Amino acid sequence: MATLQFRVATADDASLIHPLVESAYRGDESKLGWTTEADLVSGKRIDAEGLLAKITAADGAVLIATCADDTSEQPFLVACCEVVRRSPQVAYFGMFAVSPRRQGGGIGRQVMAHAEEFCRREWGAEKMEMTVISSRQELLDWYKRRGYAHTGESRPFPFEELEKLNSVALVDNLGFDVLEKDLRVDGAKAIVADVRLSGQ
Ligand SMILES: CC(C)(COP(=O)(O)OP(=O)(O)OC[C@H]1O[C@@H](n2cnc3c(N)ncnc32)[C@H](O)[C@@H]1OP(=O)(O)O)[C@@H](O)C(=O)NCCC(=O)NCCS
Repeated sequence: MATLQFRVATADDASLIHPLVESAYRGDESKLGWTTEADLVSGKRIDAEGLLAKITAADGAVLIATCADDTSEQPFLVACCEVVRRSPQVAYFGMFAVSPRRQGGGIGRQVMAHAEEFCRREWGAEKMEMTVISSRQELLDWYKRRGYAHTGESRPFPFEELEKLNSVALVDNLGFDVLEKDLRVDGAKAIVADVRLSGQ
């Protein structure tokens, strides 16, 4: 498994983060990965302005993971995610991307664990929330294996943001499931116990 270095992104990282996000979410390159939005939405995922706003947000951060191998002189970017402090107790997780060619090797799992620890440590967050397109069953299953559960809430897809980016929905009925996880140590123990009881 790759050894990752994590840090909070700065505005200088934006030009590397942007192509990573686009390549993981949409377009042909994203199909090299095991899960993608390419058959659901075409066009950009985010523009440069939107990404910069996330990187510089006072109530959030973009976290990045870099990696070095024998052939590289410099560490290179392999993954990112966004975390937002929604309230003193609740953090939001999004813009989660691993380079398509490096997916399936445990990087995503490490990034998610790092983001949870970051929100606990920096903000005292007790709960992590995220939204996932409701038809992406393989991704929902992956989050469930990481301790996330559907709250039962659904949220509308932001079609107005697609329009602003000149992106297009390729299917009808796009919408989000809201997932959450208890980040408190006791909550984490309860989830492990649950998983053991259900034999997973
Ligand atoms: C979601 C994402 C960040 C995960 O990163 P990753 O590095 O591939 O994650 P990991 O290597 O830690 O985990 C890979 C998992 O995929 C599973 N997997 C591999 N191939 C699969 C397939 N064809 N179908 C379903 N699951 C598969 C593996 O079993 C493993 O799960 P496990 O650890 O529970 O056994 C990455 O796939 C990605 O960038 N996707 C595109 C962007 C995106 O959809 N972001 C999330 C939006 S909510």
